[in-house]
Amino acid sequence: MPFEGAYHLSTLTVNLAENSYDIVVECGALASLGQRCVSIGLKGIAAVISNSTVTPLYGHTVRESLLAAGFSVEMIEIPDGEEYKNSATLNQVYNDLLKAGVDRSSFIVALGGGVVGDLAGYAAATWMRGVPFVQVPTTLLAQVDSSVGGKTGIDHPNGKNLIGAFYQPRLVLIDVATLLTLDKRHFCAGLGEVIKYGVALDSSFFEYIDANIEAIMSMDLDTLIEVVLRCCQLKAQVVELDEKEAGLRTVLNYGHTLGHAFEAIGDYRGLVHGEAVAIGMILAAKVSVAKELCSPEDFAKISALIVRCGLSVKIPDFDRKLLLSTVAADKKSKSGSITFICNKGIGMYSMSHHTPDELLKLSGLEA
Ligand code: NAD
Ligand code: GLY
Repeated sequence: MPFEGAYHLSTLTVNLAENSYDIVVECGALASLGQRCVSIGLKGIAAVISNSTVTPLYGHTVRESLLAAGFSVEMIEIPDGEEYKNSATLNQVYNDLLKAGVDRSSFIVALGGGVVGDLAGYAAATWMRGVPFVQVPTTLLAQVDSSVGGKTGIDHPNGKNLIGAFYQPRLVLIDVATLLTLDKRHFCAGLGEVIKYGVALDSSFFEYIDANIEAIMSMDLDTLIEVVLRCCQLKAQVVELDEKEAGLRTVLNYGHTLGHAFEAIGDYRGLVHGEAVAIGMILAAKVSVAKELCSPEDFAKISALIVRCGLSVKIPDFDRKLLLSTVAADKKSKSGSITFICNKGIGMYSMSHHTPDELLKLSGLEA
């Protein structure tokens, strides 16, 4: 069904049999967290995991809502930053859960961006062999991508997201108004993931983003609700068909293979994730042009939209050998061959297998 930006919906369901859950997208949704947790049968202590930036902004509202609904509340704060998405922080969280008496009759709330969501989700997946958890994402990237679909995890010194579990939340509660405090850089980075859905899966959504870019960039909340809803709907459709990434779910990695390599060779200190995805989408679109799956005109439209979203399309300087070895180490690489997602025009994808060498040539990174 073409996307016309007229949903008037606020709740979607991710249908995964006994692991099904709702995604609620509203302005002001934070205040309803407690009641919504009651209505899905959660009980006991609500352990709210957040970070040192988000807790002062939204911790109070979340805490009050949970208390008013009758829960005991334990606030657990972790430091802010990808560099803390690791086993040391996780151990600290386990200590705090133990001290607070959180057991399987309690639940965890992840309040924050993708870093908090991934780590808190993994804590929930592993604490006492699994306690229920609720995602309350507060960055655009987390609202349109990481809070939905059950990928949880932490980084290992040798690689990002190497330790993790598929573990679905019991509810995703998205308060789009929280984006008003997000800095411009992370907002634009989130738009990288938004464009991904349009280019790889839905041409009418791509057109919608293009036509509404001023409203999006000026943070018009009604438009942002439409955008977040559509991304979540597209992601839910993919996850429902391929929860554990046996095949189709790889499409969500459009722009990620080469983008992630650039993120990694910058030691995660240069590009943030969504910025790297934007570079990766440019390169994936170039591969698609080289394979005659995408016209130069569609390439130009994709590139122009990325720029209008405040993202750079300039390929950072790189060391060829390092880039090749980083691409080869990708989680989607098997025996030297990488599952790579191209765009067929705008709105459709195509999956193929390439060596890192081929990808560098096809993407124009080397002549
Ligand atoms: P992030 O969690 O680091 O958040 C970015 C910054 O924004 C942080 O400083 C954070 O404290 C701050 N912040 C969060 N919400 C805010 C708000 N409302 N107002 C002001 N500041 C706020 O980064 P991110 O881009 O949200 O997430 C990136 C992480 O997500 C990476 O670790 C990546 O691996 C992971 N990820 C996971 C999945 C998945 O499917 N699980 C998908 C994509 C990315
Ligand atoms: N962000 C990719 C996925 O959830 O599969």
